[in-house]
Amino acid sequence: MANSRSSKTNRVRRQLLPVLLATAMVSVIPHVHADPLAPAGRWEGKAGGSASTPPMGWNSWNAFRTEVDEDKVMGAARVLVDSGLARLGYTHVNLDDGWWLKRRAGDGRLQIRTGIFPSAATGGPEGTSFKPFTDKLHAMGLKAGIYTDIGRNACSQAYDLHSPNLPQGTTAEREVGLEGHVAQDIDLYFKQWGFDYIKIDACGLADFVPGSDLVKQQNYRGQAPLIERGSINRTDIGAVRRRYEEVAAALKAARPANDYVLSICAWGMANVRSWGKDVGNLWRTSSDITPSWTSMLHNFDSAAKRALYAGPGHWNDPDILHIGHEAFDASHPVEVRSHFSLWAMINAPLLVSYDLRNGPASLLAVLGNADVVGLNQDKAGHQGVVAYDSDDAQIIVKTLGDGRRKAVALFNRGATPAPVTLLARHLKLSDSAPVLLRDLWSKQSSTFTGEKAFTLAPHETLVFEATGKRQLENGVYLSEIPGAINVAVDGTRQPQLDPTIHRMIDPWSSTRSGGSRPQYAGWGGAQADATPYGQALQVAGQGFGSGIGILSGSRLQVRNDAGHTQLIAAVGVDDSTENTRKPVRFRVYGDGRLLAESPAMAFGGKAHRLKANIRGVKVIELVVRGSASASGEAPPVVTTWGDVQLVRDAGGGR
Ligand code: GLA
Repeated sequence: MANSRSSKTNRVRRQLLPVLLATAMVSVIPHVHADPLAPAGRWEGKAGGSASTPPMGWNSWNAFRTEVDEDKVMGAARVLVDSGLARLGYTHVNLDDGWWLKRRAGDGRLQIRTGIFPSAATGGPEGTSFKPFTDKLHAMGLKAGIYTDIGRNACSQAYDLHSPNLPQGTTAEREVGLEGHVAQDIDLYFKQWGFDYIKIDACGLADFVPGSDLVKQQNYRGQAPLIERGSINRTDIGAVRRRYEEVAAALKAARPANDYVLSICAWGMANVRSWGKDVGNLWRTSSDITPSWTSMLHNFDSAAKRALYAGPGHWNDPDILHIGHEAFDASHPVEVRSHFSLWAMINAPLLVSYDLRNGPASLLAVLGNADVVGLNQDKAGHQGVVAYDSDDAQIIVKTLGDGRRKAVALFNRGATPAPVTLLARHLKLSDSAPVLLRDLWSKQSSTFTGEKAFTLAPHETLVFEATGKRQLENGVYLSEIPGAINVAVDGTRQPQLDPTIHRMIDPWSSTRSGGSRPQYAGWGGAQADATPYGQALQVAGQGFGSGIGILSGSRLQVRNDAGHTQLIAAVGVDDSTENTRKPVRFRVYGDGRLLAESPAMAFGGKAHRLKANIRGVKVIELVVRGSASASGEAPPVVTTWGDVQLVRDAGGGR
């Protein structure tokens, strides 16, 4: 959509940009400390909402777009219950766009389109109500989800103009989004109508550009975009975040029992991949999935390297599943299993979105694979980490439960067969002891020692549960337990775009542009077993198969749930750093007290061995600080917490 903002506005925005960016960066810090690197001494991970494991259930969008109705939704709900999927955890039944009629003039109360939701025609002073609908779902043991937009207008009002189910009436009556009505609407949805889950889209902040054809032809109120789809630097990150924070606060007030789920749908834009964890329970990491293989790759990539930003209560969301359609319909069983396995491995929400009433049993069997669902729903909440990476094939490893069991996915991204050798080392298991593999699709078991070769069919994903002798018998590497880590400050300054995401032919613009340029910031964020820029961890020529890569000016928090007694690491400036001049210092804190620190470390210096006694400590904090003397303009230093691990005694596992 053309941006017709006046050049004067643009000039003012450009002058304001440094200020806006500075504001945005400050607001990325969960609790604004005077010194964001000072240890907090307590867990700062988010507390609001209830999504201790990734949400599962059904969403109406990919199935019906705006042509949703009560029969279709209740039909899906019945299949969830009758098929046993609900018992496996598929309990959320989420309405998407298309349910509304208008915002009533006078009191601003939202009215439901009763032509498609007949049970909402309750009459009386309220006009319409979703209470009968949510009551029915609750009586079936299910949960009810609703959809809205953070701005004034919803996505369908920009992109589904053909729809018979767009809001009706005056300009004001068609402003069905939250803007200006946060407290009123959240109260309505959660206290009066009894919804449990809300997905909040962001088209209202992006697509209703003053003076645009859309705004003129549809007679909308234009709004200068806070999200510019084509430019992260022209997006007002702080303002977008504050909008969602306002809703999070309203939800807390409406549901003090904390029994709600907040789903942020800003499509990976506005740097949400970095701050989503502090505001909502899940946040979209990319644009909408479409039923094509490469769209699935694109969406998978947008979340797959963000393991350290997710954990119990807060999840990367690469979008609802597109199982049931085109490249993922019942005639593509390999692709269906891959899509499902990958979402499971990276702790994505498992929200099915096809017409369940008419779906083939073979698809229900995939969704009903209790072993694969189980690894997604594992209570520890450790997102899978990429252990081998290439554009052709990947190996993703997820640590389950107490750290003893692993799940591993071997993933052929390409259209030709791929040779993939799995190493015990990929699993952080001993090379010299047998590893037991159980295939979670075929249910066959096998063992290997050291390594095992596979040939994957095109687009195939094999998923195994793996057990063996752990490399660390008395502890865990931090990169095995990303769900126990909160990236309080990741050291990134100017938001940078992630260049590692599969660039598909955009289904909306096709090739009518110079290329596909995803606008997902967060590049340079902390990574498990890789540097912030995706390189192998290495300090002065010494490689580390395990560790955390993070920029200087950072603070990580680690929950010591398992009561480990020692933290051990080999720390230093990573060989891949762009800034080779600035010295840094590594510090370990336990419940706010300094436990260990490195000397000033410079590029080329050998890794320094750090040990900290963490007996009895609940929250460990790992801080890397650059020397104050170096210029503030210089890029942060790439640093490595090599082999960083928690063990039960000083000599354990080495
Ligand atoms: C956006 C969202 C989708 C869906 C539609 C509804 O595109 O990203 O998931 O909710 O809006 O219009």
